[in-house]
Amino acid sequence: RFTPRVFSGIKPSGGLTLGNYLGAIKRWVDMQGPEFETIYCVVDLHAITVWQDPAELRAATREVAAGMLASGIDPERSVLFNQSQVSQHSELAWIFNCVARMGWMNRMTQWKEKAGKNAEAQSLGLFAYPSLMAADILLYHATHVPVGEDQKQHVELTRDIAAKFNHDYKVDFFPITEPVIEGPAMRVMNLRDGTRKMSKSGESDMERINMTDDADTIARKFQKARTDASPLPEIVDGLEGRPEARNLVEIYASLADITPAEVLARFPGAGWGTFKPALAELAVEKLAPISREMKRLTSDPAEIDRLLARGAERARELAQPILDRTLDIVGM
Ligand code: ADP
Ligand code: NA
Repeated sequence: RFTPRVFSGIKPSGGLTLGNYLGAIKRWVDMQGPEFETIYCVVDLHAITVWQDPAELRAATREVAAGMLASGIDPERSVLFNQSQVSQHSELAWIFNCVARMGWMNRMTQWKEKAGKNAEAQSLGLFAYPSLMAADILLYHATHVPVGEDQKQHVELTRDIAAKFNHDYKVDFFPITEPVIEGPAMRVMNLRDGTRKMSKSGESDMERINMTDDADTIARKFQKARTDASPLPEIVDGLEGRPEARNLVEIYASLADITPAEVLARFPGAGWGTFKPALAELAVEKLAPISREMKRLTSDPAEIDRLLARGAERARELAQPILDRTLDIVGM
């Protein structure tokens, strides 16, 4: 009943990481094609749930857009835009704030992690974040949302909101969206303590590979990445209980478009002195052309702004009829 449609987004809350690339952007590029309509968004309204310096937010918005374009998001084949330019997102989010329950939000692990022991001091927006994300997705009746593992719970909450709306208003209006979480790098871990995910807002720059890092920096970061002392196992089962080793093997697999088993077959029993430089070389080979193109694109901000404005126009055309119908269903 619903047109197969993909929606996904990235926060402009800092520089893009290898986690954003492998867990999200690289897969978004692959989903462009006859099977889906694809809609990709720089979600700046999500970014300001924690403090953002205005000038940095503006620069990061363009950098994230440039990262998507440089990676192969084609603004002809996909709708690419900036969330705050399409006010329908905020309007639908308010409706969903009145559908979602406090208890649902309280159970979100990302909220618990970010709020820590100091929930009282967090913005109301950070708490309501998943309801805005549900609006992002359902405003386009998106059927598929390709994300990393960290966003799975939020997509599940989106399904709950759609189901409750449909149930409360006795309609079959919003689709029950599928999270698409597949491939070897759905949870890229940070390089210094293998227990946390690689994040653009992480504490130390040495923990993450930025998409714009130069070759030397990438080599140095992988070189210093924490690992155990054992060589690579012969089979994937041997990665059990070795999170740092697993992480590096999965990063290699995702960059090379092969499976972790194939990586281990390519480096039978290799030590880190062999594997880390090979991994760095592969990462540089894949990222260097993208970061070169990002530099070229960000040197002409007016062109990025023009592309985003055109994308926003197309997004509004898709969004307005769905918002109108929603308001009508609610009795407005
Ligand atoms: P970040 O956590 O780096 O600020 P976002 O919240 O903007 O990233 O997420 C953008 C997309 O990148 C989401 O689909 C998210 O699942 C994905 N993503 C972010 N970090 C990782 C990671 N370490 N591994 C895999 N995917 C990730
Ligand atoms: Na995230």
